[in-house]
Amino acid sequence: MLYRPLGQSGSSVSEIGLGAASWWGKPQFPEAKAIGLVHAALDGGVTFFDTGSSYSAGQAEPRLGRALKGKDISKLVVATKAGTIADGGKVGRDFSPAAVVASAERSLRNLGLSELGLLQLHGPAIAELTDELRAALSGLKARGLVRALGVNSFDPAVIEHAIGLPELDAVMVDYNVLRPEREPLIERAAAAGKGVLAGMAMAMGHTGLKVASLRGPQDLWYAARGLIRHPREVREGARFKFLNHLAGMTGPQAALAYVLASRDVSCAVIGTTRLAHLAENLAASGMEIPTEVMARIRVQQR
Ligand SMILES: NC(=O)c1ccc[n+]([C@@H]2O[C@H](COP(=O)([O-])OP(=O)(O)OC[C@H]3O[C@@H](n4cnc5c(N)ncnc54)[C@H](OP(=O)(O)O)[C@@H]3O)[C@@H](O)[C@H]2O)c1
Repeated sequence: MLYRPLGQSGSSVSEIGLGAASWWGKPQFPEAKAIGLVHAALDGGVTFFDTGSSYSAGQAEPRLGRALKGKDISKLVVATKAGTIADGGKVGRDFSPAAVVASAERSLRNLGLSELGLLQLHGPAIAELTDELRAALSGLKARGLVRALGVNSFDPAVIEHAIGLPELDAVMVDYNVLRPEREPLIERAAAAGKGVLAGMAMAMGHTGLKVASLRGPQDLWYAARGLIRHPREVREGARFKFLNHLAGMTGPQAALAYVLASRDVSCAVIGTTRLAHLAENLAASGMEIPTEVMARIRVQQR
């Protein structure tokens, strides 16, 4: 596993990180398997774990806490998110300073940590990034509860705004082969010293034609989510099917190598429920995408 600096935050992270989210965190997915994936990731050198207070209806954070219990966490950057609240099957929002501070304190308890490696605001609007909220975030840092601060948004205007905020150390954007339009934004973020995290680095698996291979309940869930909420990824992912027929690397590895070809990216975050997929994804660290494959990707991106 190779490691990269998280911008100018002083932390370094594995260039492939594991998302503790979605099906991974749900009670329908057996806890032993979920924990086994985290332990295998640790054994494989992963030091960046990404979760959220509202992920998997609030179940992901405490599950990640149980997975990390008793492990050496000294080199880890455990990232979580605040501003969204799991409310039964729905997700509410509250970016008031008091709610964000209370959420961070709850996350520390859920995760069993004394300090969060990275606290990210989870999809705020620009108007919600008030001076009061920024002061509250800095307060969390000053109390030693949070090492780095960030924003996770798939809205380029919000990321652009976040790049200009000195309190923030990192941004998490939706960057994958389907999103070349994020590249100038990522360059500006890195030039401003921000760590850049590629959430959705595998386009939710859709470059592998996820909806066409259903082997377990999680596949049905991911396929339904794709068809209902991310039809663009499902439709456009099909254009990158050729990535699954390359010599020397698998389709998922090529998708990750593409993201990591940008030296401005600190970490590509992946989600998986299968040990074999985790091993395949971690093996992508250090792989370089051949020039002719990159050229073909560029043609498909037009
Ligand atoms: N997606 C978002 O909207 C979003 C938003 C913010 C942050 N993030 C962060 O980014 C992480 C990754 O997001 P994501 O969208 O890439 O993942 P994701 O939503 O967690 O979905 C990953 C999908 O890719 C599949 N997959 C992973 N490795 C594979 C492999 N080697 N071969 C075939 N299929 C594979 C998984 O299937 P298997 O389970 O079968 O491996 C799963 O269906 C999240 O866990 C979260 O931490 C995501």
